[in-house]
Amino acid sequence: MACRNVPGMFLAIVKDDKVVLSEGYGFKNVDTNEAFTSQTPMSIQSTSKFMFTILVARMLTKYPKYTFDTTVKELLGDHLELSDKIAEEMLTIRDCVSMAHGLRFPTTTLIENWYATTKYDRIRNTKHYPVVDELRRGFHYSSDGFLFLDKAFEILENKTIEQILRDELFEPLGMVHSNTIGEARDDESYATGYQPGPNGTLLKTTRNFISRSGSNVGGFGLASTADDLAKYLRFVLREGKLEDGTQHVNPDLIKEVLSPQIFYPLPYNGVADGYSLRPDFPTTSQTLSYGMASWHRYYRGFQLVQHTGSHGGCDTLMTYVPDLKIGIYTGLNGPYTDVSWVAETVIQEYILDVLLELPNYLNDTTACTFPAPWGEPVGLPSYQAIPEDVAPALPLDKYTGVFGKEGFGCVSMTLNRTEDDVEVLQFAIGWGRMFAYPKEGRAHQFWLKGVDDMFHYWYIGGYSAAFIESDGLITEMIVSGSTLKRMPDDNKQLCSFYLTGLNSTENEK
Ligand SMILES: *[C@@H]1O[C@H](CO)[C@@H](O)[C@H](O)[C@H]1NC(C)=O
Ligand SMILES: *[C@@H]1O[C@H](CO)[C@@H](O)[C@H](O)[C@H]1NC(C)=O
Ligand SMILES: *[C@@H]1O[C@H](CO)[C@@H](O)[C@H](O)[C@H]1NC(C)=O
Ligand SMILES: *[C@@H]1O[C@H](CO)[C@@H](O)[C@H](O)[C@H]1NC(C)=O
Repeated sequence: MACRNVPGMFLAIVKDDKVVLSEGYGFKNVDTNEAFTSQTPMSIQSTSKFMFTILVARMLTKYPKYTFDTTVKELLGDHLELSDKIAEEMLTIRDCVSMAHGLRFPTTTLIENWYATTKYDRIRNTKHYPVVDELRRGFHYSSDGFLFLDKAFEILENKTIEQILRDELFEPLGMVHSNTIGEARDDESYATGYQPGPNGTLLKTTRNFISRSGSNVGGFGLASTADDLAKYLRFVLREGKLEDGTQHVNPDLIKEVLSPQIFYPLPYNGVADGYSLRPDFPTTSQTLSYGMASWHRYYRGFQLVQHTGSHGGCDTLMTYVPDLKIGIYTGLNGPYTDVSWVAETVIQEYILDVLLELPNYLNDTTACTFPAPWGEPVGLPSYQAIPEDVAPALPLDKYTGVFGKEGFGCVSMTLNRTEDDVEVLQFAIGWGRMFAYPKEGRAHQFWLKGVDDMFHYWYIGGYSAAFIESDGLITEMIVSGSTLKRMPDDNKQLCSFYLTGLNSTENEK
């Protein structure tokens, strides 16, 4: 933890139906020096996907007329509208959790636009999102398939998804401190996530910020603790049996959840599997396929079912070795995804070597230098602050206005003043607010610097916005890969339609 500048972490290890270890280490808050304990909840981010898939298996146990091959259309009816009408009819639960849906939903935080949309807005808006592939032809990572299942279960049970999670998973398993990250803003027991600040410092993300992306609970919105995750790892490895022996989830469904589903292309989105494919590395670990909300990998020849998660300074790694009844869960509250991924890999591979009774290939030195001496070291990144004194190509007020797109909503660009009373261009989407500073040597391009809850976006290379000019007038804005058009003056109703997918005569249902 010291050599990777990790503030705090949780660790849960299960083997052969026993909890080997369940602990918290370091600090959940470095300002107050509060300890990270085995009962400190932290956002588990994308590893929520696997936990939600276990909930899916529970719901299929409870409603046996449905299977992983039930279509989402059967569950959602008119609530499901996709731009690909064939996919709309054929999309199954299995496609949603194994990323075989062929849909590429907008993926970055800003455009996912949880600052302004509800999950129901988002479901209504999926009809605007492009289809990138035929159904089941390829792997396309996305969190949105989980929203369809979320809504389907809410209809089936006539309860909120939060209540369903409590009733069907957390209570029966005794996961007493697990909840959804929407609760982080009001819950002081949560671990604070840390991002890299200037000059090697740590910048905390607020609990309010963590809650802001809480609308997609199945995609990335669950929180848990070492003690609770140990119970959950055991439950999955016991193939769905509760402590009292009750078969809460059909064991065949758990086996299905742990099975590979779709070929995983490497490199994916330009990212290769990593260092350990090379013959000069002391071990091999390689990804072969994606299963249900998990990657299927081999480590030293043993099959792993793994998933990572990271956002807002909280990084997690979930690992099952189903054959050997091993489960490991780690979570760090900072400071950075690449570095924390390396730190978690080192910790988990060391633990795996111990549990597999293999000689440890890592020692105190290489644990800190990994992947060196065998591969290129991964150091803490050094970020540069966004310069605030670059002159814009046009006067700042030319970039003001409202810009929108269907399925996205509207961004409003206004002039504001900084705390030092300097005029600044301000970007706002829902409750998300950032200041826009011109990029050096790039006309009409701006770095976005977070304010309020987003203040940890302070560096070059994070979010940007660009504008299209025609005859001295700004006509379009490009943000997170989407092009938004300048809106006519009286734009309130249109922006609301763009955001919610509902026109003014429809009631929110
Ligand atoms: C439960 O059903 C009622 C009546 O149809 C509806 O108004 C309510 O929104 C439903 N609740 C949930 C959580 O789906
Ligand atoms: C970071 O360190 C550099 C060099 O010591 C210094 O000039 C700069 O002001 C520091 N930045 C911050 C934000 O403290
Ligand atoms: C740690 O492992 C490295 C690489 O295998 C080795 O060169 C080094 O001598 C080891 N250090 C100790 C203290 O054992
Ligand atoms: C202008 O920026 C300040 C921070 O400098 C912020 O407190 C204020 O809410 C902003 N005004 C508007 C209208 O967004």
